[in-house]
Amino acid sequence: MSKFYITTPIYYVNAPPHLGHAITSVLADIVARYHRLSGKEVFFLTGTDEHGAKILRASEKAGREVSSFVVEIRESFRNLSPALNLSNDDFIYTPDKKRHWPGAQKLWQKLKEAGDIYKGKYKGLYCVGHEAFVTEKDLVGGKCADHDEKPQLIEEENYFFRLSKYTAEIKRRIESKELLILPESRRNEVLALMGEGLKDVSFSRPSQDISWGIPVPGDESQTMYVWCDALSNYISALGYGSEDETKFLKFWPADIHFIGKDILRFHAAIWPGMLLSAGLLLPRELVVTGMIQVGGRKMSKTLGNVADPFELVEHFGADAVRYYLSREVPVFDDGDFTQEKFSQAYEGNLVNGLGNYVQRISTMVRNYFDSRLEKPAEEEILKAPLKKGEVEYVSVPYFIEKIVFPEYKKTMDNLELNRASDAVFGLLKELDGYVQHYEPFHLIETDKEKTRVVLWNLAYGAVSLAWFLAPFLPQTSDKIFDIFGVVGKPQSEWNTFVVKEHKALFPRKL
Ligand code: MSP
Repeated sequence: MSKFYITTPIYYVNAPPHLGHAITSVLADIVARYHRLSGKEVFFLTGTDEHGAKILRASEKAGREVSSFVVEIRESFRNLSPALNLSNDDFIYTPDKKRHWPGAQKLWQKLKEAGDIYKGKYKGLYCVGHEAFVTEKDLVGGKCADHDEKPQLIEEENYFFRLSKYTAEIKRRIESKELLILPESRRNEVLALMGEGLKDVSFSRPSQDISWGIPVPGDESQTMYVWCDALSNYISALGYGSEDETKFLKFWPADIHFIGKDILRFHAAIWPGMLLSAGLLLPRELVVTGMIQVGGRKMSKTLGNVADPFELVEHFGADAVRYYLSREVPVFDDGDFTQEKFSQAYEGNLVNGLGNYVQRISTMVRNYFDSRLEKPAEEEILKAPLKKGEVEYVSVPYFIEKIVFPEYKKTMDNLELNRASDAVFGLLKELDGYVQHYEPFHLIETDKEKTRVVLWNLAYGAVSLAWFLAPFLPQTSDKIFDIFGVVGKPQSEWNTFVVKEHKALFPRKL
């Protein structure tokens, strides 16, 4: 069985999760589920990034001891999984001395052994929001544009990582697509950056200034730079540096790191540099998503425009939130969130679209055929073809197999998740058209046998929707399989449908 290792970024615990965090996790979850359903052994990792100045400052602001402050927020990130039905196999957090520190420290040791860690003096402007040094050209009116605050001038002695040494090799791997970066525009952006050559990175801070972190191996007076610490989570979680590295040997390299565009540089430059220095394999793919915006500005705690994923789930259900994040927001571009847009999408596509379709078909099967539909003979099926414009497809199953499935597979494999979802909802539209064309609710009065064929096709369509939607809307998908009596049955056994009475899949909220 082939393996598939997929990760989300580990989230900063300066504040509870907002919808911008939820989207990265939901998209990664859809991909994880898709690969699991296609028979791979999947390892899906998420977690939290809890060290550094940013977190320390947030705890001070809250008047809290940092070590207990992080636990509380970590739990709210952990709770995203049951709330949004995320299927992560593991959850890593950086203060975990047993699971995370040995890996981070082993990796540091490897870089040192490779001669890539050296001591130097650094003077520069540090943006705590970014947890990175910035340059004058990143500032607007002396302030970091993203975090709307003045960076600190820092002059200190610390350790450096010789990233410059790896510029050419990293560039080669990205150019050759051995390290694939999606979408293409982000790949080009990174390559342009490489053109200027990568600079060495300050990789530690004096412990007296920032003690909340992992001590540098062999020099307790220094704390590891938070990005060096954080990036190593992708291997520490697999047991790298622990007594048992079997999981690491099995799952590394990562097949996909899902990341937001704001953290691309760290993943496309520093992380590959660290891995090359340590003699480890590079991840196969970085998938770079756009940002959720509110009125054209990134949703962020700093800007105070956040939407709470838990509240949305509470009101609309997990699948409604998953639907919005995977269809109404393009994967690779920025997308807007407003309460109105969310409600409209919910009512339009889920209540009146999918929910209504399933309700109508299941009700007709119950009322006209005593809840049971056997597969009609092939020649009967031919009598109720699916018409799409000028083209006539022999049957609903044929249309699904020849038109919908290839588009779905192609877009899923290219990670164009919103387009894959479009293909599924496009099928729903065709099925609605099929209902309108044959009007089974009238046809039943004149031709019961043809109505049987029409409804069988429509029930087959409903179950196919459930199959396609399984990675996206897992709960809804399970419910539809159950309503039509095909739980656990492969497609080849979707012959007889025994239909159950059920509640609305998506209750009306307006
Ligand atoms: N801790 C670092 C990542 C370390 S990974 C080794 C970090 N954390 S974060 O909490 O600030 O962001 C985590 C992820 O959430 C990033 O991919 C970021 O792009 C994403 N998002 C944060 N706000 C977002 C939106 N408004 N929209 C979409 N994604 C957003 O960076």
